[in-house]
Amino acid sequence: MKEVIVNGSPRGRAGNTEIFIRRFLKGLGRELPVRYAAQEDAEQLAQELQTCSLVLLFTPLYVHAVPGPVQELLGRMRPFAQPGARMGFVVQSGFVEAAQSRYAVRLLEAQGRRLGAENLGCAVRGNAAGTAMMGEKGNAALFQLLERLGAAFAETGGFDPQTVKALGTPYRLTKRQAMGMELLYRLRIGRVMWYWMLLQNRAFRRRRARPWLGDAPPDSGGQAKK
Ligand SMILES: Cc1cc2nc3c(=O)[nH]c(=O)nc-3n(C[C@H](O)[C@H](O)[C@H](O)COP(=O)(O)O)c2cc1C
Repeated sequence: MKEVIVNGSPRGRAGNTEIFIRRFLKGLGRELPVRYAAQEDAEQLAQELQTCSLVLLFTPLYVHAVPGPVQELLGRMRPFAQPGARMGFVVQSGFVEAAQSRYAVRLLEAQGRRLGAENLGCAVRGNAAGTAMMGEKGNAALFQLLERLGAAFAETGGFDPQTVKALGTPYRLTKRQAMGMELLYRLRIGRVMWYWMLLQNRAFRRRRARPWLGDAPPDSGGQAKK
């Protein structure tokens, strides 16, 4: 009985997905081996997963889809060797609305069916781009939910629907919320985090650079022409 977690982030151990996994495991109360789709040979990993009884795939959303290494891994996987193998998915993304991940969810569930796995469901979380930066306090609510997801999994062997629902809220912003967010961005308040990241990476002055258009060489440190 092999039970495995797969981290689908191209950032591997340094990404937000890893934080999600660690919190889930904390709630689960035991360790599971974690494999890294982007850092391992896809064919070999696919073959190993085929013999598992449980695969939990944690992945970020990249460009409205699962990242390339996850696509490749799923494409190479063949149906599970044992009947009764189970698959569950956790997708986390940057935009606030969990609905951003709806196409990825459909893809993951379709792949689960193709592989003959019992589908444990898909937990989705939006607004997660800042997870690594926000620390214990800023992530308190999220961490509580992830730990609860793990703890319930230890008890029932599945994802708790109420916790999944809480993680995936808001699924869509109301019109009023969307207008509020637009206002924050117009007032530039919504950009504070991005500006902070640019400053941290000493890239603030180059934030408008368009090196491929030839108007600001990437190593110039200069600003793009307006
Ligand atoms: C190349 C790239 C594309 C992304 N595309 C989306 C997207 O389409 N929708 C979204 O909500 N978030 C998007 N994000 C945000 C990531 O889903 C988010 O930052 C996530 O927490 C990254 O997880 P990781 O650090 O484990 O890779 C994107 C991030 C990157 C780097």
